[in-house]
Amino acid sequence: MIELKVNGRSHNVSADPDTPLLYVLRDELQLNAAKFGCGLGQCGSCTVLVDGAPTLSCVTPIMLLEGRQITTLEGLGSIEDPGPLQQAFIEEQAAQCGYCIPGMMMRAQALLQRNPHASDAEIRAQLEPNLCRCGTHMRILRAVRRAATLMAGPGTPPATRAPSTAGTQLDAPDTDNDAQGDARRRPARTDKRERPER
Ligand code: FES
Ligand code: FES
Repeated sequence: MIELKVNGRSHNVSADPDTPLLYVLRDELQLNAAKFGCGLGQCGSCTVLVDGAPTLSCVTPIMLLEGRQITTLEGLGSIEDPGPLQQAFIEEQAAQCGYCIPGMMMRAQALLQRNPHASDAEIRAQLEPNLCRCGTHMRILRAVRRAATLMAGPGTPPATRAPSTAGTQLDAPDTDNDAQGDARRRPARTDKRERPER
């Protein structure tokens, strides 16, 4: 048995220690927000937080996670009581098919909880490892900016805009033409596996 702490609750899990966290979340704990995309640590749809850091749950065995704080999208709020990031994504209608959105949101959450005043360039750099095949990048960016404003509290100016970083999937002009985020223009990816330290 391995004890996992997920969204503030402890779970004793009987899966093999080398089972990827994603399978345990979805199959044993019925936490289905994190998605299986590539299963290879390359798309980001399975992103969760481990001790506040974005972590690819499809390539992270549960034996590395005992005593760590795991947060999934379900831990940020509910349909009845959405958290600021979830509220912002709803208000901006940021999802198309929605498959990438939980991973995008968890990666954004990691940034905004350590820096609610993140600049546009910082938001783009943070989200860059995650893929969106529908090309809704500009809506996602707007949603994260909106969430930053909500999380920073009343009287805070909107997240600052800054020149985009070169070479990312999110460096298109900020227009409503979501096709500008076409994943086919994405540069070749390197294997960006993120595993927490033992
Ligand atoms: S499913 Fe693609 S990185 Fe995990
Ligand atoms: S909204 Fe469909 S993959 Fe991003």
